[in-house]
Formats: sequence, C-alpha cells, structure tokens
Amino acid sequence: MSMFKKILAALLLASIAMSSFLASSQETVRLGTPVTEDQLENFDLVAPPDGSGFPSGSGTARQGKAVFDTNCAACHASNGEGTSGNTVIVGGDMHSEENPLRTVGSFWPYASTIFDYVRRAMPADAPKSLSNTEVYQVTAYVLFLNGIIEEDMVLNSETLQSVEMPNADGFIDRSHIQ
Ligand code: HEC
Repeated sequence: MSMFKKILAALLLASIAMSSFLASSQETVRLGTPVTEDQLENFDLVAPPDGSGFPSGSGTARQGKAVFDTNCAACHASNGEGTSGNTVIVGGDMHSEENPLRTVGSFWPYASTIFDYVRRAMPADAPKSLSNTEVYQVTAYVLFLNGIIEEDMVLNSETLQSVEMPNADGFIDRSHIQ
C-alpha cells in the first residue's frame, strides 16, 4: 500500500470511529426532559400594547388594594411611594421642569405594559405567583393610586387598552428610521 493510501485508510477508519461514537453518544446521553404545554404557557406571557396576548379575567382597584398590601407594599410602600429610588411607582409629572420624576404613572405610555410587566416580573421575590385576576386587580390599583382611573373601573383585556396614560404623547416615533 502506498503511503497515500495508508493515510487515506487511517482517515477513513478515524471518521467511522467518530461517527459511531457520535451515534452511540446520541443514544446514551439523555439530558433534560421534553417541555410540556403547561410549562410553555408559563413562558408565553408577552402582552403587548396592541392588545394581543391578554388573558381573560378582570378586576377593580378596590379589589386590588388587598393584593397590593399583601404582595407589593413591602417594597413599594403602602401607597406606591417606594422604599428606594427604583421602587417608586406612583406620582411624578413629566411636564414638571423641576422634577420630571419617571414612574409607571407619569412616564409609561401604555397601561397595558403595567399588566404585562407585573404578570411576568412582580412580586420581585415571587414572580408569576399571582393569578391573572389578581394581576388585573393590582394593575387597576396602581393606575388608581396614580389618579389615572376610578376605583371601580373594571379592568379587563379590552378596557385596559382604552386607558389614557398622561405621557402617551410624550414620545417621538422613530420606528421608521432604519
Ligand atoms: C421584593 C421587593 C418587591 C416586591 C414584593 C414587589 N416589587 Fe415591584 N419592583 C421591585 C423593584 C426592586 C423594582 C425595580 C426593578 C428594576 O428597576 O429593574 C420593581 C419594579 C416594579 C415596577 C416597574 C417600575 C418602573 O418604573 O420600572 C412595577 C410596576 C412594580 N414593580 C409593581 C409591583 C407590584 C404590582 C407588586 C406586587 C404584586 C410588586 N411590584 C412587588 C421590588 C418589588
């Protein structure tokens, strides 16, 4: 056998060995478990301002007070005034020249984002622990504390889109710029 053929044969053997190693490793290594539909649902929670992705359920601020006192007040204080710089969720005025404090009430352009954010990220020490109804209730309460809606307004997937936020017009749309 020429040297060239020997090298070729050796390479061939090596690649056969490699592919059978890969095949056997695919058969024997079983890491992880298949994701179930229920688990997927727990990740598929994005509810954007266009109104898609909102679950059924509803709630008022009056109902949301108890949810807030139990699950939120420890960090956001009893009226949402906050216990630290980044936990202030009530007050502020983007039109104030002296103190245009940004909060979800003064700054966020869509009420639906409060629902979306709270459902996925709050309470910070136990995210996703609230039911959809409780999230509607506590979202209503945060909006009520900010003076944006009435205490008995029923917040649901439809009415949430109609809430007018004070700073809705405070943004410049640059989405057309590539
Ligand atoms: C363990 C403390 C803790 C608890 C409990 C908690 N939060 Fe928060 N929350 C935070 C912190 C810290 C931030 C700021 C996070 C950041 O800036 O990334 C925050 C941010 C927020 C924001 C966004 C504020 C902004 O301007 O970006 C909202 C709205 C909010 N929380 C609502 C709630 C609601 C409603 C509850 C109860 C269901 C709750 N939080 C419970 C700690 C907490």
